[in-house]
Amino acid sequence: MARDPGRVLIFDTTLRDGEQSPGASLNLEEKLAIAQQLARLGVDIIEAGFPFASPGDFKAVHRIAEVVGREQGPVICGLARAARGDIKACADAIAPAAHRRIHTFIATSDIHLEHKLRRSRSEVLEIIGEMVAYACSLVDDVEFSPEDAGRSDPEFLYPAIEAAISAGATTINIPDTVGYTTPAEFGALIDGINRHVPNIDRAVISVHGHNDLGLAVANFLEAVKMGARQLECTINGIGERAGNAALEELVMAMHVRRSYFNPFLGRDAASSEPLTNVVTEEIAKTSRLVSNLTGMAVQPNKAIVGANAFAHESGIHQDGVLKNRLTYEIVDARTIGLADNRLSLGKLSGRSAFRARLEELGYSLERQDLDEAFARFKDLADRKREISDRDLEAIVSEQVQQPEAHYTLTHVQVSCGTTLLPTATVTLRTRDGADLSEASMGTGPVDAVCQALNRLARVPNDLVEFSIKSVTEGIDAMGEVTIRLRHRNQLYSGHAADTDIVVAAAQAFVNALNRLMSGSERAPLHPQKAALASGDPLPVGERPAL
Ligand code: KIV
Ligand code: ZN
Repeated sequence: MARDPGRVLIFDTTLRDGEQSPGASLNLEEKLAIAQQLARLGVDIIEAGFPFASPGDFKAVHRIAEVVGREQGPVICGLARAARGDIKACADAIAPAAHRRIHTFIATSDIHLEHKLRRSRSEVLEIIGEMVAYACSLVDDVEFSPEDAGRSDPEFLYPAIEAAISAGATTINIPDTVGYTTPAEFGALIDGINRHVPNIDRAVISVHGHNDLGLAVANFLEAVKMGARQLECTINGIGERAGNAALEELVMAMHVRRSYFNPFLGRDAASSEPLTNVVTEEIAKTSRLVSNLTGMAVQPNKAIVGANAFAHESGIHQDGVLKNRLTYEIVDARTIGLADNRLSLGKLSGRSAFRARLEELGYSLERQDLDEAFARFKDLADRKREISDRDLEAIVSEQVQQPEAHYTLTHVQVSCGTTLLPTATVTLRTRDGADLSEASMGTGPVDAVCQALNRLARVPNDLVEFSIKSVTEGIDAMGEVTIRLRHRNQLYSGHAADTDIVVAAAQAFVNALNRLMSGSERAPLHPQKAALASGDPLPVGERPAL
């Protein structure tokens, strides 16, 4: 049996694999806000990014290592292809963290060897030994992934894993890169590794999987039964294509069905010791933060964090739940922190009360951000009688989108109605302080606003998604708008909340435009596809400047 940490470690890759979702790219402030929340959630390891991708990615991992990688905090991990340049950049980026890990990978399936790497099995074995040893010369904690393990020939996979452990890797991660395996097959793969890799007792077995067939969570739970003790997952299951295994589903499955899983960890079935270190009460809040900042809406029927997951619509169910909630509920909404939405502040609350409540909610803003967020709060308090924690979260999550702003929205005005042609006037302030105004007509007020903004920004884009939902209940609730724009085949999202939904739409559009303009400036490297695109199987590059 592989090295056993005595519980299941949660390795969160929202900021790396999750950020690889189309349109989910995040700026430094947003990544930091998510990393801080992941630490409060109690994950064991945060994969903070792929530092070699771009100077921006390097800086984000470095900043997370500085701020979140405290002595009592999680391990801060960076991804690196099995190439010196990647590994060195990764070691430099995670250097400030008290606990740091390099996660290096290379593909082991024949299909990847032949078409992507154009390397033989023996060449790949040699690279694994050399690159894992190199990573171990820079940090104590090294994880190795044989990419596409789910489709790799065990005859080659076993020696590849053995070579990585011999070179010093202490975590072996088994990725089902294309989400191809079924639970029984994935369980058997882990079992086979446990039985056939001679030095496997020197490493923790981890699993990583994509949801192309909707099986990622089921596969992981089977892997736990076979000895996997680290799960790589993302909040809301975001990630490449159909996404990664969802953290909240894995954690809650093991929480609700603890007595089923306990014996697989050598515990008494009745043991009440948690199987993971996750603070389940932080799940709903983390889900909202990730959804707001990535612009990736959570489907209403999504397990655990979907809007309908705790809604008992049908009369029969409501009746049953009122008599005894166990009739139709297996999870109490409070367990994931859902019922917790205090009415916290009002019109007369001052700056220190505002800051104190934000800190209680886990947000500590820098001085200027705090001033701006407080001004937004005061403005909201003039229009809305009571401000709840959800409203504060909406204000803060919008605030962290602003720092890289090319444009700031300073004015928006629309006229519309049954007999009017919808018309909008907008003003944007540029980085150097110039005010630019435009007016436009449209099919409706939002269309008119977007057309006016497009005339100012002059970057071609298509609006591919527009969604609106209310932050809380009540007629004076804020509306949250999420917008996704397509530019040169890339998606960019923007999110904003306001009691006036046209203002929220204008702000969300500006946030998406800002992200588009920063994104098209930096164009980061994709860790798994870059080698294929460049035709260079193992590019070695310079470390990006800090
Ligand atoms: O899906 C995958 O194989 C990955 C690896 C880099 C672990 O994300
Ligand atoms: Zn992946």
